[in-house]
Amino acid sequence: MLDRVGPLALDGPVASGKSSVGRNIANRLGWVFADTGLMYRAIGYLMSVHEIKSGGSKNLLEMAHSATIDISDEQVVLNGETITPHIRSPEIANNASIAAESSEIRALLVSQQRELASKTRGKIVMVGRDITTIVIPDAPFKFFLDAPSSIRAQRRLSERIETTPDLVISEVLKDIDKRDKRDRERNVSPLTLSPGTTLINTEDLSLESVVEKILTLIENPEGA
Ligand code: DC
Repeated sequence: MLDRVGPLALDGPVASGKSSVGRNIANRLGWVFADTGLMYRAIGYLMSVHEIKSGGSKNLLEMAHSATIDISDEQVVLNGETITPHIRSPEIANNASIAAESSEIRALLVSQQRELASKTRGKIVMVGRDITTIVIPDAPFKFFLDAPSSIRAQRRLSERIETTPDLVISEVLKDIDKRDKRDRERNVSPLTLSPGTTLINTEDLSLESVVEKILTLIENPEGA
């Protein structure tokens, strides 16, 4: 078992494989896994329930400030209610991305994420869009997963085809491109590859090979 201590920060666009890879690595190392997208999705859920369209809404900010969001074990518990089954829809994903444009919402969630990371004393794999750049930029292990959007759309389609048999690739691709554009071009903490972060193109790699590649790199950073 690895005697190094993290945290391991992992960023990437929609459906780049970061959650599957991050979860797998955390299991292998016996570390905590935290998918920060779930926190933004919890805010996206609040927007949906209260019919709020803008991430800058004062009402939303107040609700976000008084909310408790727990993402342990990849269950999302918002103010004591388990909302996990409701947060995977494209509507909530889109709302989450809109909420993520607000600097106030980000500041609130980033401080909770930093607190979570510090509680684990480095034994955490945290994934999202700004983990390597803003949340824990001094993490010793920082990776950015990417692949062309056509490949990511194909992966997302295969995940969702069982529950949504009518789904077509063009629709998935449109959704991905729209959300990626917003996440990469927003003014606050846009998704970006920063110096000191290793880029891994997952286009031709299986989940297992990405996991192995990262584990090798963190065990032997010099020899990679
Ligand atoms: O990873 P995900 O698809 O569940 O994330 C949903 C949205 O939340 C994503 O489109 C942008 C936002 N997000 C963010 O801005 N920063 C993070 N650290 C995680 C997610």
